[in-house]
Amino acid sequence: MGMDKRRDMRSFADSGHEAAASPGGNMKFEGVPIAELKVGETVNGIYVLKTREMRTGSNKKPFLDLVFMDATGEVPGKDWNVASEYDLSALPLHKLYYVNARVDTWKDSPQLSVNRMKVAEEEDQAEIVTFVPSAPLAPEQMLAEVYEYAGRIRNTEIRSIVLSMLDDREQKLMYYPAAKSLHHAIRSGLLYHVVRMLRSADAIAGVYPSVDTDLLFAGVLLHDLAKMDEMDASELGMADYSKAGKLLGHIVIGITEIDRVSREIGASPEVVLVLKHMVLSHHEKAEYGSPKPPMFLEAELLHHIDTIDARVYDYDNALKDIKPGGFSEPVWSLDKRNLYRPALGEPVL
Ligand SMILES: [Fe+2]
Ligand SMILES: [Fe+2]
Repeated sequence: MGMDKRRDMRSFADSGHEAAASPGGNMKFEGVPIAELKVGETVNGIYVLKTREMRTGSNKKPFLDLVFMDATGEVPGKDWNVASEYDLSALPLHKLYYVNARVDTWKDSPQLSVNRMKVAEEEDQAEIVTFVPSAPLAPEQMLAEVYEYAGRIRNTEIRSIVLSMLDDREQKLMYYPAAKSLHHAIRSGLLYHVVRMLRSADAIAGVYPSVDTDLLFAGVLLHDLAKMDEMDASELGMADYSKAGKLLGHIVIGITEIDRVSREIGASPEVVLVLKHMVLSHHEKAEYGSPKPPMFLEAELLHHIDTIDARVYDYDNALKDIKPGGFSEPVWSLDKRNLYRPALGEPVL
């Protein structure tokens, strides 16, 4: 039954069941957003397949263990009707699928019991980036802002190093997340992180005249660039650690890259040293990956601006669906704290 039901997927997509004709006359599948799934319903959804694995149940029967996602969230899925020799390559990852499933519960959360699933038609596949959580600003706009800040660096050696490192990574920077699962683990999350940090850095430099913006902007621009080497990410912004990422991490890779580019440019030793120090110390402590703590003002500020941006992201993310007066689930990156949304009502004038 397992294989057979997959063969009739085409009729599933073409049947018009829960599907509406688009203006062009082609069949267009209308999905149910994951955030709106209701237990007990049978849905025809359109989701990205994030992970899939063959497992064996306690009854010794094989089943497919799946995770689906869309821009509104993630939901686990199970397909209980597969043959043990089922070939997983029939279900390519990070593609859009039409999914017919019953919404059950598992550990008090929705879980899809999949009846049928099929890779979506090319026409729908083209819109896949709208089905993954993405940074709220357009990548093109953010990239332009990044280059604007890089252009404000007056020291020509520092500017050349920064521009060279940016140019090499421009394509990937458009979609890379800033993390696999922590802060900014969304499409274009790295770019978003860097842009918000640049704005923060700019504002702080406006308050404290002793800040050298050449150094601070360069530090922000360079500090996490090697995350694009630390992780392999798909154009959907979903990432996993690369071999170099696992063995070296983005700080060491970043230092190596600064070294390489600086040699090409023939930059002076002091410039190379201070740029390396900023990247090296931005996690502040050895247990977080920095062998030396920050030792000049811009390195110190870089560390704090980085932390502020990650924290703001984590607060916003944890509290986005929490009503005033409510607490979030424990947040791992914040020592499992339950975060609170203050309930002050309308401002009193
Ligand atoms: Fe970092
Ligand atoms: Fe960072």
